[in-house]
Amino acid sequence: MGRVSRVEGLLARMTLVEKLGQLTMSSAGFTVTGPVIAGDSTEAIRRGEVGNLLNLVGGEPVRALQRVAVEESRLGIPLLLAFDVVHGHRTLFPVPLAEAGALDAELWARTARAAAVEAAADGIAMTFAPMLDVARDPRWGRGVEGPGEDPMLASRFAAAKVEGFQGGDLTRDDALAAVAKHYCAYGAVTAGRDYASVDVSERTLREVYLPPFDAALGAGVAAVMPAFTDLAGVPLTAHRGLLRDRLRRRLGFEGVIVTDYHAIAELIVHGVAADLAEAAALALEAGVDIDMMSGAFRHGLPLALERGRVDLQTIDAAVRRVLTLKERLGLFADPYRRGKAALPAAVRARHRALAREAACRSLVLLKNDREVLPFGPTLRRLAVVGPLADAPLEMAGPWPGAGADDAPVSVIAGLRAALPAVQIHCAAGVPIGTPAQAVAAECAGPPDYPAAADSAPPPESDLAAALGLCESADAVVLCVGEAARMSGEAASRGALDLPGSQREFAEAVCRRAAARGVPVIVVLFSGRPLAVPWLVQAADAVLAAWFPGSEAGAAIADVLCGRVGPSARTAITWPRAVGQVPLFFGERPSGRPANRDDPYTSKYLDFPVAPLFPFGHGLTYGRFRYTGLRANRERIEEHESLEVSVDLVNEGAHAAEETVFLFTHPRTSSVSRPILELKAFAKVALAAGASGTVTLRLAGADLRTLGADLEPQFEPGAVDLLVGPCADREQLHVLGLIKERAGR
Ligand code: NOJ
Repeated sequence: MGRVSRVEGLLARMTLVEKLGQLTMSSAGFTVTGPVIAGDSTEAIRRGEVGNLLNLVGGEPVRALQRVAVEESRLGIPLLLAFDVVHGHRTLFPVPLAEAGALDAELWARTARAAAVEAAADGIAMTFAPMLDVARDPRWGRGVEGPGEDPMLASRFAAAKVEGFQGGDLTRDDALAAVAKHYCAYGAVTAGRDYASVDVSERTLREVYLPPFDAALGAGVAAVMPAFTDLAGVPLTAHRGLLRDRLRRRLGFEGVIVTDYHAIAELIVHGVAADLAEAAALALEAGVDIDMMSGAFRHGLPLALERGRVDLQTIDAAVRRVLTLKERLGLFADPYRRGKAALPAAVRARHRALAREAACRSLVLLKNDREVLPFGPTLRRLAVVGPLADAPLEMAGPWPGAGADDAPVSVIAGLRAALPAVQIHCAAGVPIGTPAQAVAAECAGPPDYPAAADSAPPPESDLAAALGLCESADAVVLCVGEAARMSGEAASRGALDLPGSQREFAEAVCRRAAARGVPVIVVLFSGRPLAVPWLVQAADAVLAAWFPGSEAGAAIADVLCGRVGPSARTAITWPRAVGQVPLFFGERPSGRPANRDDPYTSKYLDFPVAPLFPFGHGLTYGRFRYTGLRANRERIEEHESLEVSVDLVNEGAHAAEETVFLFTHPRTSSVSRPILELKAFAKVALAAGASGTVTLRLAGADLRTLGADLEPQFEPGAVDLLVGPCADREQLHVLGLIKERAGR
């Protein structure tokens, strides 16, 4: 039956209860991703009162409930099954913040595709991903779920993820409807505190926070999730201006808008609705289609209708969009198409190989003094110490989804497999600890952080053993950092140091090793940049591992041993101290940019302005020299494009892959522009001693800016093109370009 006629035919036969059922999403309780709201949905599904479920995973249980909907409800409308497939499903890939640093759109799409294949085999039809919140404050724990601080990078990431999840055709048995979340500016929560209020300028909204969502729309994303937060006083769940007017009317988005967990009910707590009926009316009127976990549409809209706060046409329009999505997902044609058969072992094995590749490509080498890495052939005895050395479950990261049953490879397991001839000894030394422990001394009151399950201290002897291992090793691998649950939702931190007593431990390890002239290689796990200048200084090498997923230890061993060279870059700036945040490269210059010699400039009395590591930083095992920056034109009009090329020589001793960034900065414009704006990036792999050329493309349209009236304009004038390895101006090569009006 044609899509339109089926949907319209159903609509004509539906009761109000059945309509509201299609606008309702309940939790099935496979996992908990919000406040626990009890209840078995089976009866409600049978009565047509619940049309969508989250958090049910597995072919068998999904089929059982789908059967209730299809065979036992009056109209037989199939359920939509949704789940947070954030960085993998059964096979876990690196957390998005890490994977963003691979700067490889093809890889981003491939991991999303693999995750979709696995989730669809588990009966899932929709993922609450990609998370596209630009994040510039590392206190906010949710930065780990997204692509970092830059809107251009985030936009590329958005398109690749949507393409990967949706597979180009939603009716495919292995396609998932993607949900671009959290629309929008959630990353700008006050003081980095999760769920807190947001207030950003209209310019920042348009230039920074909205572009990744526009890119997701451009890639055909099936759904959008408004953020929990308010924006300048208007909760996004009830934001007519951004949902109904911008998304739907201006951008023509015809997909589904699904709220975040319990978000409609929280409109009452925001203080914009007096009761559930009012909250439901606000959300529906703003353009929301599916109410996740508030029961507000189901229980509140009948009253809102009675009060004349909403009309049936608006309800019908929302039902039409939900049914159309179910149709697009092929659910009417075959409600059981997803979750029919278990995935063949060969597919799982391919996904594990992809997880290892993605993890290798996401590890960021922050420091490598005297080229202590990769390990050389003379290595005989290795000490692997620290609470994350043998912590397989932590490697999964904060959204392990359905992958938790399959323990990832720990660092120690990976190193033992990679270095069979080396004597490797391991000791945790200290527990991971809690963030609370680290700040307890400075806090007047008790911090609101529950004790971690692993907070029981290892025996004293373990600390002695760990330090003892450093006495006899040729090299020490020190595995420290955060536990997986210290980032992600509801995991903001006020301090950005190592939790618990890891600092004292790490300092002791570094002292012992330094006394013997033995190198310390830190493998640092975290869901955010950590402000650890002391650690970077004390260690010989530092590898930011983030949370690498299922193949964590194998990939870390690949990179430490040089089987694979490190190539990733940090997609977010690393501060030296919490006091510097928010810290990002796209700041505007101000009238008094920081100047060491002038006290009346924009800086601190007690910290440098410069970050610990700039956006884009990441070393390789090569050493690249950039020369001959040039462009194929000196002037550009809006409709034209340009190629910028630079020659690179790998003067290092190892083959390596270098990432080259192209930034721009107009010398003058009617509105002050960021110091650097990222426009393109590209990679080149060069053998030791080899040279090559990287070419980056820039369209005239990429040089449009928002004028004082916030309208896009192509302003004539001189622009600097800045090319190099990261967002540190000192390391960039500069070339001038003239923007000119068409026809001059
Ligand atoms: C709340 C989170 O904010 C959102 O990202 C997630 O998709 C939902 N819970 C469902 O688990």
